[in-house]
Amino acid sequence: MKSEGLAGLTTVSVDWEEPAVIILDQTQLPNREAYLRLYTPEEIWEAIYHLKVRGAPAIGVAAAYGMAVCAQQFGEQSFSVFFQKFTEVKKYLASSRPTAVNLFMALDRMEKCVLSLQDQQVDTIKIKLQQEAEAIRAEDAAACRSIGEWGLSVLQPGMGLLTHCNAGHLAVSAYGTALAPVYLGQERGYHFKVYADETRPLLQGARLTAFELQKAGADVTLICDNMASCVMGQGKVQAVLVGCDRIAANGDVANKIGTSGVAVLAKYYGIPFYVLGPTSTVDLKCPDGAHIPIEERQAGEITEKWYTRRMAPPEIKVYNPAFDVTRHELITAIITEKGILYPPFDRGLSKL
Ligand code: MRU
Repeated sequence: MKSEGLAGLTTVSVDWEEPAVIILDQTQLPNREAYLRLYTPEEIWEAIYHLKVRGAPAIGVAAAYGMAVCAQQFGEQSFSVFFQKFTEVKKYLASSRPTAVNLFMALDRMEKCVLSLQDQQVDTIKIKLQQEAEAIRAEDAAACRSIGEWGLSVLQPGMGLLTHCNAGHLAVSAYGTALAPVYLGQERGYHFKVYADETRPLLQGARLTAFELQKAGADVTLICDNMASCVMGQGKVQAVLVGCDRIAANGDVANKIGTSGVAVLAKYYGIPFYVLGPTSTVDLKCPDGAHIPIEERQAGEITEKWYTRRMAPPEIKVYNPAFDVTRHELITAIITEKGILYPPFDRGLSKL
């Protein structure tokens, strides 16, 4: 398994080892560190849909490895039949989750790789696909490291930081996006105090962010989502750091449900609100947040999932959007691997 040498962190969310995609099953955390080997399109689709692998960059990497692994199994030697099978699997994996643009970026990049090799033997294309998937993973790890450096440059030692959902090591190839400055700061003696929102309904903050930060020896305190205002009002938070699933051309950002509420609170309390993500999360074809497709998930995730008994009356009406859009006016800066963008974001994003 590949490890980017993070202090205290040995878990790797997604990897590839012929002939399978290997993922850490995040639905088992924090209780068990169980790795799954995925061989078929159905297994990969199911792992992404059920959040066994999750976080925008990690699902992009999982899909890229998934295409490389599935392509190995196509027996055809003619390019046209190979490409037809390839596009069928690509379309299928693309249907697993709609919001994080990294999934589609990675799949499109794998397709471009195939199309650039039409004059090559199918066996050569299969090798190139493995290399392309590996490049996507390596670029993600490098981007996260760079996001960490830029993010650290806006923070001061000893700060209290609040984060929502999980935009850490588990959500990417290494370091994380929102949590990358926390890890780099830890290596450099910044002594941050991190407040992790539990992140209802699927508890990515409690199960994943608290798990990975604690494991790495960081100072992390878990709070319920509805405590964020209280903690901010008590002066314990000097900056909010969140990840992102899609950044629209005007700087509106889709991230885990509840993020926009945190941004409104940060504005009220005068706390800087930073969005951190790789440029693979920027979607310039999407003009603004209203055009970002928002995934709606099953009611059972609110009424019973993770509990041994129902937490709401049977047949209660439930609305369960998995993401929300934070308007660009609420964002202090967008931090990518290429640098820090301040408003107006549309100009900065178009130059990226
Ligand atoms: O539904 P999830 O767990 O995949 O949602 C993940 C998030 O919203 C993360 O904050 C986002 O993908 C950024 S990950 C670096």
